[in-house]
Amino acid sequence: MKKVKKIMVPASSANLGSGFDSIGLCLDLWNEIEFHQSKFNINITGVGSETISKDKNNLIYQSYLKTSEILNTQKIDLSINCINSIPISGGLGSSSSAVIAGILIAFSINQIEIDKNKIYQIASQIEGHPDNVGPAIFGGITIGFKDKNDWHINQIPFPKDLIIVSFVSNQKILTEYSRKQLPDNISRKDAVYNISRVATLVNSLNNSHYKDLKYSVQDAIHEQYRIDSIKGYKLISDAAMNAGALATYLSGSGPTISAITNNKEVTINYEMLEAAARLNIEGKGFIHNISYKGAYIIE
Ligand code: HSE
Repeated sequence: MKKVKKIMVPASSANLGSGFDSIGLCLDLWNEIEFHQSKFNINITGVGSETISKDKNNLIYQSYLKTSEILNTQKIDLSINCINSIPISGGLGSSSSAVIAGILIAFSINQIEIDKNKIYQIASQIEGHPDNVGPAIFGGITIGFKDKNDWHINQIPFPKDLIIVSFVSNQKILTEYSRKQLPDNISRKDAVYNISRVATLVNSLNNSHYKDLKYSVQDAIHEQYRIDSIKGYKLISDAAMNAGALATYLSGSGPTISAITNNKEVTINYEMLEAAARLNIEGKGFIHNISYKGAYIIE
């Protein structure tokens, strides 16, 4: 039997309010993917074991095929065994983690040296925006952007004690649907609003200016168009802020609502769950550190 290798891919939380399609952070929450050359087979345990496709439409396998085309390498059948912990109901980068896993499999199977920048280029091209794949590949909090044909990435230094509390409801919001709700054009006023907030976000993270975080995640270009379809958004966010969160934002395209804290994670998690329960919204709370490490292969 061919040697089984394992990939670890983390969850990520994108946008952080004002950093739409640009900024994201890597969470210390991981999916494990074992793979080897064999008759085609996909097995999934843990999150999504009932719902994620196990045929050749599976996103990990599709990303492996796309990467093989980009790299001009042979496509072979694979046995893939996923042990999933990242919630799939939306907002913590489960699709991005699958895309990255597929790319890493293609690099590994073809014995191509793991070059994070090359993986980032392919992942951003497949995803169309770099705010989940950037942090999930490089770790930490990242800013990604495209210039001509190249995707660029910068790490934002951040205080070590930040913790992210996320309420992940069972509501399903597809990113594709959610993006269609956004206007194609924004006003100069809204552009200035976001430029000022996102610049403050980077500065606050760099300098541990915790008191500015709640302003720095304010956004005028995507959240307002999305939150009406997210059950309990305001009440659950308010519950987190009342429990002492430094800031809250819609994680990715939602429905996940994330709160930033440096010491009140248990209370914030409890209060978010309580607020959701009062509204009969089912969901789970997640408390995670920001991971400095991104996706990696265990040979
Ligand atoms: N930046 C993307 C969006 C993230 O907001 O649509 C999707 O996870």
